[in-house]
Amino acid sequence: MQLKDQVVVVTGSTRGIGKEIAIAFAQAGATVIISGRNEQMAAETKKEFVQKGLKADHFACDVTNLKNVEEMVNKILDKYKCIDILINNAGITKDNLLLRMDEADWDEVLNINLGGVFNCTKVILRSMLKAKKGKIVSISSIIGLTGNVGQANYAASKAGIIGFSKSIAREIASRGITVNVVAPGYIQTDMTAQLNDKTRDEILNHIPLKRFGSPSDVAGVCLFLASKEADYITGQTIIVDGGMAI
Ligand SMILES: NC(=O)c1ccc[n+]([C@@H]2O[C@H](COP(=O)([O-])OP(=O)(O)OC[C@H]3O[C@@H](n4cnc5c(N)ncnc54)[C@H](O)[C@@H]3O)[C@@H](O)[C@H]2O)c1
Repeated sequence: MQLKDQVVVVTGSTRGIGKEIAIAFAQAGATVIISGRNEQMAAETKKEFVQKGLKADHFACDVTNLKNVEEMVNKILDKYKCIDILINNAGITKDNLLLRMDEADWDEVLNINLGGVFNCTKVILRSMLKAKKGKIVSISSIIGLTGNVGQANYAASKAGIIGFSKSIAREIASRGITVNVVAPGYIQTDMTAQLNDKTRDEILNHIPLKRFGSPSDVAGVCLFLASKEADYITGQTIIVDGGMAI
């Protein structure tokens, strides 16, 4: 897949799945914008890419802050003139049973996971509409489809991404822009490193492919959805979960 001369923004790309997605796009020839809340981490990640001969830039941005997103996008557009691909990846968990979940944990998860997708999509869409092209891929989760004990806030945010994306896909289909979702199962990253051995074994019992996914399993699907080969695919949710939700 060749993405030469394409400019890609990946939110939350200083580590984990986002970083792996950024690597996959950069290896396909794209210029990748590394973005995260922490300026220093974003700068270090960009440096790593450049040292490997990959095209990358970095901007600090908190996806919950609309003004911050607008500032980042204006700077990118000033420098690169267009944004061809947006990968909405930034996300967090704050798990608890509903009766123990406080309002702050509900709000934070919804604001980052769903509010961030709203902010970035809305702002970047303006330039995509002018260019009459663009690909938007958002990272949901299998939990957004199945629900999970202790994850009402996370599941609501991730299900929200799916409904949001189907709506925007319909709104802008006639403008040559596609909007799709990737719903990973359990992927080996910092987010899942917190699981204890017992929980890990229980989860593995429910995965037909008998392993956790790797960030590159997710990155490959994002790459496909953002490529020319996927021009006729929009409003879809692709599950990458080793068969867990069959
Ligand atoms: N790891 C999994 O098993 C798994 C499964 C399904 C879905 N996901 C989703 O994949 C995405 C990446 O997860 P991960 O496992 O790599 O997590 P991670 O915690 O390793 O990385 C998350 C990234 O998001 C960034 N981020 C968090 N809040 C932000 C904010 N307000 N503004 C900008 N950036 C912010 C973090 O700095 C980090 O770079 C998330 O949306 C997550 O919900 C992960």
